[in-house]
Amino acid sequence: MSSSVLFDESQRYFPGGVNSPVRYYRPNPVFIKKGKGSRIFDADGKQYIDYCLGYGPMILGHANEKFSESLKARIEDGILFGSPTEEENILASKIREAIPSVEKMRFTNSGTEATMHAIRLARAHTKRKIILKMEGGYHGAHDYSLIKAGSGSLTFGTPSSPGVPEEISRTVVLGEYNNIDSIRKIFSEMGDQIAAVITEPVMGNVGVVPPKEGFLQELREICDRNSSLLILDEVITGFRFGYHGYQDLANLKPDLTTLGKIIGGGLPIGLFGGRADIMDEISPSGKVYEAGTFSGNPVSVSGGIATLDVLRNSDYSHLTGLTEKLAAGISDIAERAGEDVQINQIGPMFQVFFNSRKVSKYADAISSNSERFFEIFTRALQEGIYMPPSQFETNFLSFAHSESDIEETISAFEQIWN
Ligand SMILES: Cc1ncc(COP(=O)(O)O)c(C=O)c1O
Repeated sequence: MSSSVLFDESQRYFPGGVNSPVRYYRPNPVFIKKGKGSRIFDADGKQYIDYCLGYGPMILGHANEKFSESLKARIEDGILFGSPTEEENILASKIREAIPSVEKMRFTNSGTEATMHAIRLARAHTKRKIILKMEGGYHGAHDYSLIKAGSGSLTFGTPSSPGVPEEISRTVVLGEYNNIDSIRKIFSEMGDQIAAVITEPVMGNVGVVPPKEGFLQELREICDRNSSLLILDEVITGFRFGYHGYQDLANLKPDLTTLGKIIGGGLPIGLFGGRADIMDEISPSGKVYEAGTFSGNPVSVSGGIATLDVLRNSDYSHLTGLTEKLAAGISDIAERAGEDVQINQIGPMFQVFFNSRKVSKYADAISSNSERFFEIFTRALQEGIYMPPSQFETNFLSFAHSESDIEETISAFEQIWN
């Protein structure tokens, strides 16, 4: 059955025909049948070089053999017991060794759950209510994350979705990523009420926006001076730039860290963790409630162990090199075609912004030309290049991408801008 026929049917079951909104694009999303390595294959039999990678978890590429073998073994031995398993200890020890600030942790089923619980824990620990998040920062689809900046006269945020109570938005203030003065100003007004600052180290949900030199370190200092916690949301960045967190690259020690995506290798997982004294406030050792039928799910945990075992021996500098080559290639072609683009790239993450000015903060990102992006996205799809359908997402490379994939992608962009 073709994607368009499948989409006609899926609209009868799911709002907008999809199970997560970013999967929708016009006229219909392609329905994927299978993936192998850097490639995915749609319901019409067309293949694509995949730069979406399931929105980031598939850093080994699709159907990696070691990963698949470990899952088969797990499934044959049963998949869910409601009791602890040794594998949870194994995955936890690997994560703590790689990201030492995560002294103790709790597995969840998604990044959304991880940040939701980290926020509750920070509030309980500090006995304060206010959370400072960055404008355009995304931490999942729970009420404390779906808050956008209010009008100039409002200090607090406003709900970015109907159904999020105003009362909740009055517990969240919005700062500007890469603008430390905006953060200082908020702290000078209400520093003693701020439980935590939550931020992605590299913004990955407004396209890709890397941190300015010193920004994250200054955030750490401001939090320390005000006895507020720093929650670093590494759901995208964890194990992305090397066998560690971005915090290890930046020499930064958050109080709490959230992880997800890569640590399950494509299976549902999340994690929040950090200072042992804070984590011990979680039930049953403490009073802060957090629970989940599927938390520490043996299948996801096995997927995580297999993924980290492969990553441990992987050459991240090669991955970055391929991404730089691709970004330079696209940039050259766009420039020759007279198209105004800005390419932000860091490690294996990149985004092409249709913008004449440098993109270093949220306001720059959203001033980009979305219609033009969508035209190029659609052309890329026709040429067999699969990117996320929004400029405010991230393209990723995996260890399954090869030099020839990159050359093929560059030739496809030559056709697109021809
Ligand atoms: C930085 C960040 N935090 C949290 C989340 C939520 O994770 P999940 O989709 O697994 O709930 C995402 C999802 O893209 C994310 O990018």
